Amino acid sequence: MPTVPLRDRASWKALEQHHTDIGGRHLRELFAKDPDRGERMCAEATGLYLDYSKNRVTDETLRLLVELARESGLEQRRDMMFRGEPINTSEHRPVLHVALRMPEGASLVVDGADVVAEVHDVLNRMTAFARQVRSGQWKGYTGKPIKNIVNVGIGGSDLGPVMAYEALRHYSRRDLGFRFISNVDPTDFAEATHDLFADETLFIVCSKTFGTLETLTNAHSARDWVIGQLGDESAVSHHFVAVSTNAARVAEFGIDPANMFGFWDWVGGRYSMDSAVGLSTMIAIGPEHFGELLEGFHEMDEHFRTAPLDANLPVLLGLLTVWYVNFFGAQTIGVMPYEQYLTRFPAYLQQLTMESNGKHVSRDGRVVDYDTGPVYWGEPGTNGQHSFYQLIHQGTRLIPLDLIGFAKSLNPLRDHHDLLSANVFAQAQALAFGRTEEEVRAEGTAPDVVPHRVMQGNHPTNVLLAERLTPHRLGTLVALYEHSVFTQGTIWGIDSFDQWGVELGKVLAGQIAPELTADTEPELAHDSSTNRLIRHYRRLRKN
Ligand code: F6P
Repeated sequence: MPTVPLRDRASWKALEQHHTDIGGRHLRELFAKDPDRGERMCAEATGLYLDYSKNRVTDETLRLLVELARESGLEQRRDMMFRGEPINTSEHRPVLHVALRMPEGASLVVDGADVVAEVHDVLNRMTAFARQVRSGQWKGYTGKPIKNIVNVGIGGSDLGPVMAYEALRHYSRRDLGFRFISNVDPTDFAEATHDLFADETLFIVCSKTFGTLETLTNAHSARDWVIGQLGDESAVSHHFVAVSTNAARVAEFGIDPANMFGFWDWVGGRYSMDSAVGLSTMIAIGPEHFGELLEGFHEMDEHFRTAPLDANLPVLLGLLTVWYVNFFGAQTIGVMPYEQYLTRFPAYLQQLTMESNGKHVSRDGRVVDYDTGPVYWGEPGTNGQHSFYQLIHQGTRLIPLDLIGFAKSLNPLRDHHDLLSANVFAQAQALAFGRTEEEVRAEGTAPDVVPHRVMQGNHPTNVLLAERLTPHRLGTLVALYEHSVFTQGTIWGIDSFDQWGVELGKVLAGQIAPELTADTEPELAHDSSTNRLIRHYRRLRKN
C-alpha cells in the first residue's frame, strides 16, 4: 500500500496543476471543443449505463484520476478485500460483504472456514422460513397465520430493509403488511403497531450486536405488547425471530436460537442488507426475487473486481467524487432517483457513504490534511425540482448530482413515465449548459430581469440509466455505491469500515438518561449548558 502521503503523490500534484488549468472551463466550452464527448464519456456494465460526459473533466482529467487510483493502491486494496484480508484495520476485521452474494458452490476460505458455504447455509434457512411465513404454515400463538411483519432495528439493521422493501414493493406480497420500527421515540412504535393484532404479527428483531439501545428498547416493548395481548410468555417464540451475530444475547432476550438467523463480524451494518438482515425483504418479495437481488450485487462486484479502472462504473463514480471534493471544494453530492420506488434510496446512501467515509484520520491514525467524505443527500425526482433545485441551478455552491433514470415504469400510466424521463435529461442539460445573458436578452426579457434569469450552468451531473427497476437492478445499484465508497476511502487512506464516531453520543446518553428521571434532583457535573437543559427538561417533564 502507498507510503507516500496523498498530497505528495505525483498524480495528486499533477491533478492540482491540471485543476488550475481546466477547473474554470465551462461545460459549454468543453462540449464545443469536444462535440463527441457524450458518445465517448460513457460506460455500461450489468445493463447500467453511465453518462459522465457532463462532468467538468477532460480525457486528461480522467487519465490522471485513474493514475491517482493506481498510485493509491486501489487495485491491491480491492483484491485484499475480495481475498478476505483484514482491511478494516481499526477493528482488525475482514470486509466481506461481497461474500454475501457469491453464488452457491463458490468458495472463499477465511481463517480456515468457507464463508460462502456459511452464507448459503443461512440463506437456505432464511428461504425455508420465508416460505413458511408466506404460505401461512408459520402460525402465531393462537394458530392464525402471520399477516404483518415488523422489522425492529436501526441504522444498517433498518435502512437496508426499509429501502429494499420500498424499492421492491412492486414485487412484494400485497396481502402481507410490512412495518419498520427504528427510532426509540415511542411514537415510532405506537404508529407502527396501533392497528395490528399480536396474534397475526411477527417481529424480526434485527441487530448485529443485539446490544443497541434503541432496538432492545423497542424489542422489549414489542415483547410486552405481544404478551399483553396474548396473555402468555410462551407466545414469544411464535411471534419473534432474531437476526444477529450474537446468539448469547438473543437467547438472553428470550428468542429461541433456533429462530435466529446469523451473520458475521465481517459484515458491516451498513453493508448488510443482503445478509440475514434482508429477512423481511425476502419474506416480502420471496426467495426467488431475493436471489435475483443477490445476483445483481454479485454482477456489480465482478465488474468492480475485473473491469479496467477507466471503464469501471464504481471507480469512475468514486474518482469523480474525489475530483469535486478535493479539487473544487464541493461539500455535498446529491443523488436524485427518478423512480418513486427509490424514495428511501438517498437515506440508505447517507448511512452507507457518510458512516463509511466520515473520517478525519488515516488508517494509521494521522489527522488528514484534505477533505474526506462529502454529505450525501437526495430526493426522488421530479419533487426535488420544485423544491431545492433552484439553489443547485442558480445558487453559489457547486453540488454535483447523480440522476438515476429508468426507461420503463413498473406502473405505466398514460404519458407519465416519459414526462418523468424527459426531466432527467432536461435537468442534466440545464445544469450543464444553463442560459447565457445573450440568450435571455434574445428572448425579449426586460433588462432588469435579465440577471435573474441567467443560468450559469457548469453544474456537473452523472446520469445513470437502466431499463427498469428490478431486484437485480437494485442489487447492482447498491453495489455500485458500495464500491464507489470503497474507491473514495482508498484514495483518502481512511478506514471506511469502522464507525467509532457514533460511540461518544451513546455513552453520554447512557449517563444522562438516569439524570432525566431520578426522583431527587441529581448532582449534575456536565457543562453549564447541558446542566441547565437537563434541569429545564426535568421541570417541563414534571408539569
Ligand atoms: O450507528 C452505529 C451502528 O453501529 C451502525 O453502524 C449500525 O448499523 C447500527 O448502529 C445498528 O447496530 P446493530 O445492528 O448492532 O443494532
